[in-house]
Amino acid sequence: MPDPSRPRVLVTRRIPEVGLAIVRAAAEVDLWEGELPPPRDELLRRVRGVDGLLSLLTDRVDDELLDAAGPGLKVVANLAVGVDNIDLAACARRGIPVGNTPGVLTEATADIAWALLMSAARRLPEARDFVLQDRWKTWGPLDFLGKDLAGATLGIVGFGRIGREVAKRARGFGMRIVYHSRTRASAEVEAETGATPLGFHELLATSDFVSIHVDLNATTRGLFGAEAIGRMKEGAILVNTSRGPVVDQVALHAALSSGRLFAAALDVTDPEPLRADHPLLALPNCLILPHIASATVRTRDAMATKAARNIVAGLRGEPLPDPVAPPAR
Ligand code: GLV
Repeated sequence: MPDPSRPRVLVTRRIPEVGLAIVRAAAEVDLWEGELPPPRDELLRRVRGVDGLLSLLTDRVDDELLDAAGPGLKVVANLAVGVDNIDLAACARRGIPVGNTPGVLTEATADIAWALLMSAARRLPEARDFVLQDRWKTWGPLDFLGKDLAGATLGIVGFGRIGREVAKRARGFGMRIVYHSRTRASAEVEAETGATPLGFHELLATSDFVSIHVDLNATTRGLFGAEAIGRMKEGAILVNTSRGPVVDQVALHAALSSGRLFAAALDVTDPEPLRADHPLLALPNCLILPHIASATVRTRDAMATKAARNIVAGLRGEPLPDPVAPPAR
């Protein structure tokens, strides 16, 4: 039986045990055990009267949900670094702190950006299908010709933790590295990453590979539309591990099917999940993963631990270890 004297926390999916144990030590946990996210009406019902909400990027946290929770809600902790599923202004209006999980998924996400970049450059999905379909007859001098990394230019759009980690890896491949970001990085960061700042249009025009690492917000939604994609170099490769709506998928489809872009590799799409009959999936030069950038055992354990610590601090009325700044007014 739940102990009514203890705070109550809704956890909207099974998360690594290490995080659940931390929350359980501080609160009664209502755990949604479904494989899929709780349906909206179930979420609105279960959130009623809770003191803490440990949410996932698949849960929309907005006025309606916060109203359903009621005035006792003390903290929202997202099991993600991105918080575009959360209406931060709505939380701020109610004085509810929001936490996220920065830092611990930086390397895993940079690794997936690289896995995507290399798979697209060297056409690994097509080559694998070829073997699986038993079409491999001999070594072919003209088969599966891809793009070289050495000497190519990598353009990184969004130069926060993950973008910088992607840049560091590029040095080992002998690439020229340029970046575009809201604010210029310090001289130390530029020296450490070997990256040079460029204007957005210049970066698009000169990069053989473009990797996206921006947050999803009003400015970045649709940033890679027909215009930006049209400015990319002929034969370039686009990699997205940020959020799906940053890329206009209709414009991307046109650029991939005409051959203007060599390939795209996406860990994120709009919507998610993307159904298997989506036109992008019919293109041999488009590789799509189901949003797995942070999916390693160690990273997910670390994310769950951070989210749990945010919950515990919020329940105690203490500053969250990883707070998300409320939007500027
Ligand atoms: C995953 O996409 C995250 O934001 O952590």
